[in-house]
Amino acid sequence: MDMDWKGKTVLLGVSGGIAAYKAVEIASRMRKAGAEVHVILTRAAQEFVTELTFREISGNPVNTGMWEKVTHWNVEHIALARMADLVLVAPATANLIAKLAVGMADDMLTTTILATHAPIFLAPAMNSNMFRNPVTQKNIKDLQDRGMEIIPPSSGHLACGADGVGRLPEPVEILSRVEGYFCKAGALQGKKILVTAGGTIAPIDPVRFIGNRSSGKMGYAVAEAAAKRGADAVLVSGVSALPDPVGVRTIRVETTEEMLRAVLEEFPDSDAVIKAAAVADYRVKQVAGQKIKKSEGDWSIELVRNPDILHTLGQQKTHQVLVGFAAETQNLMEYAKRKLEKKNLDFIVANDVTAPGAGFQGETNIARMIFRDGKVEEYPLMQKTELAAAILDHVERLLGAGME
Ligand SMILES: Cc1cc2nc3c(=O)[nH]c(=O)nc-3n(C[C@H](O)[C@H](O)[C@H](O)COP(=O)(O)O)c2cc1C
Repeated sequence: MDMDWKGKTVLLGVSGGIAAYKAVEIASRMRKAGAEVHVILTRAAQEFVTELTFREISGNPVNTGMWEKVTHWNVEHIALARMADLVLVAPATANLIAKLAVGMADDMLTTTILATHAPIFLAPAMNSNMFRNPVTQKNIKDLQDRGMEIIPPSSGHLACGADGVGRLPEPVEILSRVEGYFCKAGALQGKKILVTAGGTIAPIDPVRFIGNRSSGKMGYAVAEAAAKRGADAVLVSGVSALPDPVGVRTIRVETTEEMLRAVLEEFPDSDAVIKAAAVADYRVKQVAGQKIKKSEGDWSIELVRNPDILHTLGQQKTHQVLVGFAAETQNLMEYAKRKLEKKNLDFIVANDVTAPGAGFQGETNIARMIFRDGKVEEYPLMQKTELAAAILDHVERLLGAGME
C-alpha cells in the first residue's frame, strides 16, 4: 500500500503537546517519500520543538505566527491553505481540537485549517483524562461529523506518568493511516453510488405518524465513505437527525412512496445501490387531513402494504450491484438468505439488532455478509464507519473498480 507522495504538498501542523518531537520524524519521512512539506508550529509547540529543526528537516521556511514579515507568499495562510493537498496535525492538543470545533482562527494553524478545502487529518495526543473528558470527545465527534479524519491515539505509558489512552501513535502508523485514505481515495471515481438510509414513516394525521428506530447512521456512513472514494454519491434519506454527509448529494423524504420515487429516478444510471433504509412496510389507509380528536374507547387504524422498494429494484436491475440489509431479531441467517434470493441482491448485510453493540441507534454493528455464491463473511463488533468501508470494498470488487 505504498503511497506515492511525490508531487503532494503536505501541510504539517504541530501543536503544543509533549509528543511534538514525533512530528520531526513524520516530516522527515514524508519528505523522504517525495512530498513537499510545509510546517506550521503553534506558539505552544515552539516550547517543545524548534523552528530550526523543522526548517532543516522539511527544507522549507516554517510558519510560527501570523504577524511576522514574509516575503514568499501574499496572504500566507490562504496561500498555504490553497497549496495543501492534505493537512495533517500531529500532535493535535485538546486545546487545538476545541478551537477547531468552534471555528476559531486566532493563530496561523487554526486560520489555515479554517481556510483549506484539503482533507484534514488530526492525531490527538494528550493525557487520558483530557482525552476522555466528554467535552474533548464531543469536539472530536463534531470535527469527524464535519469530515475531518481522526487518527485515534494509542494506549500505553503517557508522559504524565499515567497509563491509558492518549499516546500519539508511532510516525509510521500515522503515515500508513494517511496512505490508506489516499489509496482508497479515487477507487470509486466515475461511479454513481446510490444509498438509502434512515426510517420512512407512515403518517396518520398532520401530527401523528408510525415510525421506526432507524437512526440512519449506517447508511450515512456508507454514503460518506463512497464520496471519499471519489464516487458520485447520492443519499436518499428517510427520517434521520443526522446532518447531510460531507460531499454527498442528499435527498430527504418521509414516506416509503416518496423514497421509492426518489430512488427510481436515481436508479437507472447508478452503478451500485446500497439500501440501508428501514422502510415502513405499511402505510395508513386513510390519512386524516385534520388532527384526529381523541374520543372514548379504543381506536384502530387500518394499514395497507407499501410498495417493496428493494424488490422493485431487484426486478428492474440491469447492471447495478444491489446490496440489501437484513435487520432481524430472530432466525437471522434464514431470513437474510431468503431475502437475498427473493430480492435478486448481489449481497446482503445481516445483523441481529438485539445483539449488544449491534442495531439501530449505536455507533457500532456486528454483521455478516452473505453472497450469491453462498459465501458468508462474519465481522466482529466494529464501528459503523468501518463496516461501511468493508461494504464498499465488496462493492468495488463486484464493480471491478478496484482493479484499475
Ligand atoms: C509539559 C507540558 C506538556 C503538555 N502536553 C500536552 C499534550 O500532550 N496534549 C495536550 O493536549 N496538551 C498538552 N499540554 C497543554 C498545552 O500545551 C496547552 O493546552 C497549550 O495551550 C496548547 O496550545 P496549542 O493548542 O495552541 O498548541 C502540555 C503542557 C505542558 C506544559
